[in-house]
Amino acid sequence: MKAFTGIVVLLLTGLAASIWIGFHTKLSEGTVPYDDDQEGINEQVVIKFSHVVAENTPKGLAAQRFANRVDERSDGRIKVEVIPNGGLYSDQEEFEALQRGDIQMIAPATTKLSSFSSKWQVLDLPYAMPTRESIIEALNGEIGEILLQKLEKSNMKGLTLWINGFKQVTTNNGPIIQPADLNGQALRIMPSSVLKKQFELVGAKAIGLDFNDTYRLLESGELNGEENTISNIYSKKFFEVQSDLTISDHGFLGYAVIMNKDFWDHLTADQQKIISEALDETTRWNQTHSFAMNDEQLSIIQRNSSISIHRLTDKEKKEWAKAWEPVYLDFKEEIGEELLNKILELQEKYRKF
Ligand code: LMR
Repeated sequence: MKAFTGIVVLLLTGLAASIWIGFHTKLSEGTVPYDDDQEGINEQVVIKFSHVVAENTPKGLAAQRFANRVDERSDGRIKVEVIPNGGLYSDQEEFEALQRGDIQMIAPATTKLSSFSSKWQVLDLPYAMPTRESIIEALNGEIGEILLQKLEKSNMKGLTLWINGFKQVTTNNGPIIQPADLNGQALRIMPSSVLKKQFELVGAKAIGLDFNDTYRLLESGELNGEENTISNIYSKKFFEVQSDLTISDHGFLGYAVIMNKDFWDHLTADQQKIISEALDETTRWNQTHSFAMNDEQLSIIQRNSSISIHRLTDKEKKEWAKAWEPVYLDFKEEIGEELLNKILELQEKYRKF
């Protein structure tokens, strides 16, 4: 009996061993279907997306919408973590963090890109794009394409362009109706040679400062005023510490959506496709909603605050544009003829005043 049990155990052990060996041989021979495109598919990719504005703004909402679309399209395999309000990094710090790879995405105002290529200054020229349609045409067309390509040499992948809207002027001692009314005003601007020159031409002292320092400096009276879109004036409550708001539409504020280029290059083709498609959808949404959001927030300011609102007539805008005409000549060389001519053609096509 003992001998019989021993033989059965031996046979069963042999059978189990041959099944195990056979299975492993098959795997190593590659006979089990294996798709190397799927490599690493179970690892979650995390993209930290930092920006300086509030969540209820064209950029804040677009960033969150993009994060949601990526999550849906990737079944949670790509996670975009949006950090608003300069919660991690201020305007300048976010560029350094992106280049170090501490964060993977940012969407700075295009104005802040002129330190990487002076060509970006074309979008800062006073009344560069006179209508909403002209902004969309510039960003979606050759102007946008040329500018985004300029970022590659700084290890940044320019993915798309988003709109906030037209900039307006606020002060604590208005009204600001004529260019001469800007004389002597101490104003916060984004750091930019074009903007500095523009305000100096009309006698204002324009100081390039971080966005998230603006409220404190306006509230304390260290600055008289600033220029920004309604959405930023509303969401950061600048209107509560200013007496006058001039709807001048004198400049453009929009964003380049940028990824660290090394990070982008290391994504799989499938991951890049998911991100590009989510961004395309978000950009279309941004282009149809950003102006409306600014309009709506202007109505809220109008209804709920005591700030005096002045809307420039076309004739007044023409005077502002005339006062700032020399800026075009001053920056002609830095911007280059190609882009300057393209923006002048747009102005011709969409001229309003
Ligand atoms: C500013 O600094 O005023 C803007 O760039 C803020 C923003 O990102 O809209």
